[in-house]
This record gives sequence, structure tokens and C-alpha cells, in this order.
Amino acid sequence: IAGTEEHDRKAIDELIASLPQSKGQGFPCRCLYQNFWCPVFVLPNVIAFQRHFEAKHKDIILASQPKSGTTWLKALVFSIVNRSRFGISNTPMLTCNPHDLIPFFEFQLYGSKMRPDLDSLAEPRLFATHIPYPSLPESIKQSKCRIIYICRNPLDAMVSSWHFLLKKARSEDQPEWSLEEQFEAYGQGKFSYGPFWEQMLGYWKESLERPHKVLFLKYEDLMEDIVENLKKVAEFLGLPFTKEEEEGGVIEEIAKMCSLKTLKDIEVNKSGKIPLVIEFEKRSFFRKGEVGDWVNHLTPSMVDHLNSIMQEKISPFGLQF
Ligand code: A3P
Repeated sequence: IAGTEEHDRKAIDELIASLPQSKGQGFPCRCLYQNFWCPVFVLPNVIAFQRHFEAKHKDIILASQPKSGTTWLKALVFSIVNRSRFGISNTPMLTCNPHDLIPFFEFQLYGSKMRPDLDSLAEPRLFATHIPYPSLPESIKQSKCRIIYICRNPLDAMVSSWHFLLKKARSEDQPEWSLEEQFEAYGQGKFSYGPFWEQMLGYWKESLERPHKVLFLKYEDLMEDIVENLKKVAEFLGLPFTKEEEEGGVIEEIAKMCSLKTLKDIEVNKSGKIPLVIEFEKRSFFRKGEVGDWVNHLTPSMVDHLNSIMQEKISPFGLQF
């Protein structure tokens, strides 16, 4: 096997060298693989995931673009699925970051091993990914496993990732990454796992065609009515809240436990790093959590430009922000 992996590594290096590349100052190089911009250092993991992952019917997969509410969704889904095992006083979220509880395929699981042992994990297995729908392994598409996608207004997601990369994730020796550069890469579709419109539409279309397979959520909707959305998620997962749970305030408890304020204040999320191929400060995943923070950062012409991209690429498919 070692020989095979060495051979794979060489083939992957050759593949990377043959792909179009996009370099950003202060940001890792990305290559255009299967029509999405994949950070070069993540590509070997993506390929291992595509080749080796075998989905099971009960699997639950959370999908998103970076900075769209992934951490929040992980906390919520973990709480819904495990609500009969753990209460608010003993939830593992008090001692683990949501990214430890629901790992990403392409960063954590296939990061250090080509074939991690996932068969022994308790069911339902919970996983996450930023990879676009068309590039998911066939076994995910063919099996009865469920996918929950969270989407966020690209204006806010863009500003959020700029903060994340500039202020929190950048190492001292890297040059600064300006909002203008970020805006340009984003608008050209060259930001990680994008073009953002393609990534959203892949899951959006699948959610319309196979609503039992893909549940499409919006960050803004969760902000507006968390209770209704938690009910929707629980029903989609085949784990609807009982009348007793509803009357007993279980949904509100989960919402409160997973709120930005609560998670931000838990000791485990205040310090330390989480290895997602690159190491990120745990606290960098919790910032403002507001809808419309873009007004504080983007110029009117930046807003017009991104809005016109959305108008052209996303709106015709019935997806609005
Ligand atoms: P802001 O930078 O706009 O504050 P991701 O989890 O996909 O990396 O997304 C991070 C964004 O979600 C950040 O947005 C972060 O503050 C926000 N966020 C993290 N946890 C949250 C929670 N529990 N509720 C609402 N928003 C949350």
C-alpha cells in the first residue's frame, strides 16, 4: 500500500502541475480541479476522499462554502441528532469545538490518512465538506444518506472570509491580503471551492430535484426563525421533535446552546487551534454573526458588482438573497 500511495502522490503532483492555478498574495495557491478552485494543499485529500469514501445510508453530511455558517450548522445538527444522549449540562460541545465533533472529509479525515477507518464510527455518522455537489463521491449520491447545505448571502460570506483570512488565519510572515484583492478573486469565482454561484447552485438544484436527499438552508433564515428551521432539520433527518419536546422547550434550549454567544464563551472555543490542514485559531470561527455586516465594509460599486453577478448567475434559478 505504501508503494501505491507514493505512486499516487507522484500522479497527484503531476495532475496539480497540469491544472490552471490562481495565486493570491498571502493566500494559498488554488487550482481549478473539476471546475472548482481547490486549495492546492487540500487537493490530495479531496482525491483520496473521492476514491475511498463509502457512504452508508444513515450518514449525514453537512455541506457549505467557507464562512457561511458551517460551525453553527455543525453545532445544531450534532445537538439534534444526539439530543436523547446528551442534555445541555453534559453536551460534548462544552468540551469540544464543533469542528472536532463533525469533521471535514477534506481537512481532517482524509488529511493525514488516505484511508481513515470510518467503518467503526457510531451511526449515524456525521461529516462535513466544502466540496461542490458534482465532485462528491458517487457513493454519497447513490446511497440514501442525507445532505444539509447551508448557504449565506455572498456579500456577507465574502466579508466574513476576508476577516477570517486576514485577521485570524494569516501567519505573521505572510503579506496582507486586502479586501480589494479578496473581492476581485471572489467576483472572478476564484475563491476556494468556487465559483461561489456554481457551488451554491449545485446543491440548490439537487435540493429541488431530490428534496429528501438535500436540504437547502440559508444562514439568514436561521437567524430570522431558528425554531422553525430546527424543526425542518429534525424532520428532514427523520428525527422530528415530539410534542413533549416542543412543549418542554427542547428546541429553544438547542438554539440557545448553539448560539454564537454561548459557543464563543465556552472555554474550549476561546483558545487553541484546530488543524484543518492549516491550523486555525478556534476563536476565529466566532466573530459577529450578523446579517448585513457587508454594509460596513464594501463600497457601493463592490456591492453593485456582486449583486449583478448574483442577478445573472443565481436568480434565474429561483435562488435569492
Ligand atoms: P461573521 O464573520 O460574519 O461573524 P463558518 O462557520 O462557515 O466558518 O462561518 C463563520 C461565520 O459564522 C462567522 O460570521 C461567524 O461569526 C458565524 N458564526 C459562527 N458561529 C455562529 C453561531 N453559533 N451562530 C451564528 N453565527 C455563527
